[in-house]
Amino acid sequence: MTGRLVVLASGTGTNLQAIVDACSTNVLAADVVAVISNNCDALALQRARNAGIEAVCLEKEQGEPRRDYDTRLAAQVSQFNPDYVVLAGWMLLLSANFLDHVGCPVINLHPALPGELPGINSIERAHSEAIRGERARSGVMVHFVPDEGVDNGPVIATVEIPVSAQDSLEDFTERVHEAEHKLLVDALIQLCN
Ligand code: GAR
Repeated sequence: MTGRLVVLASGTGTNLQAIVDACSTNVLAADVVAVISNNCDALALQRARNAGIEAVCLEKEQGEPRRDYDTRLAAQVSQFNPDYVVLAGWMLLLSANFLDHVGCPVINLHPALPGELPGINSIERAHSEAIRGERARSGVMVHFVPDEGVDNGPVIATVEIPVSAQDSLEDFTERVHEAEHKLLVDALIQLCN
């Protein structure tokens, strides 16, 4: 069975790239059928075009209520008939207007362990806590998004990453990114292969 994936990405798209590479080498039995971004300048869209994948920019209009945007987003995603929607660096909160109408499971990648550091700048916050001696490990998780909870939902896969006061933010960030590229692909293999 081959899974049809629609990837939502707001930024650089290194995790999208990991998925695309895993598909093209048949490590992952799936196809990325579209990449959608809320940011027309996102490098993720360029990565999609480079790989011959449909790249869609769907920006939120000024003053547009979040729920109206989510209705438009769900309609756009549904056109691609995906088996899974993958949030790979998607930085907008998704409301029920999206989740209840998209018609397939939604999977999120978050650079922290379940129940810890939801929202933005999780890597920086974990590192600051380590510097203060309050944290000795963080991690990465991939989980289903059943509702409007932020970076919260049934866990598919996690990996712990040690962090210490001696780590530079750059080194720790690099370790987290490496771990998430692998974990996201492994989680999708679990679901699709
Ligand atoms: C990743 O670190 C991802 O875990 C994070 O955004 C980054 C995107 O990187 N997502 C969140 O923080 C979601 N709450 P990428 O654009 O290079 O894939």
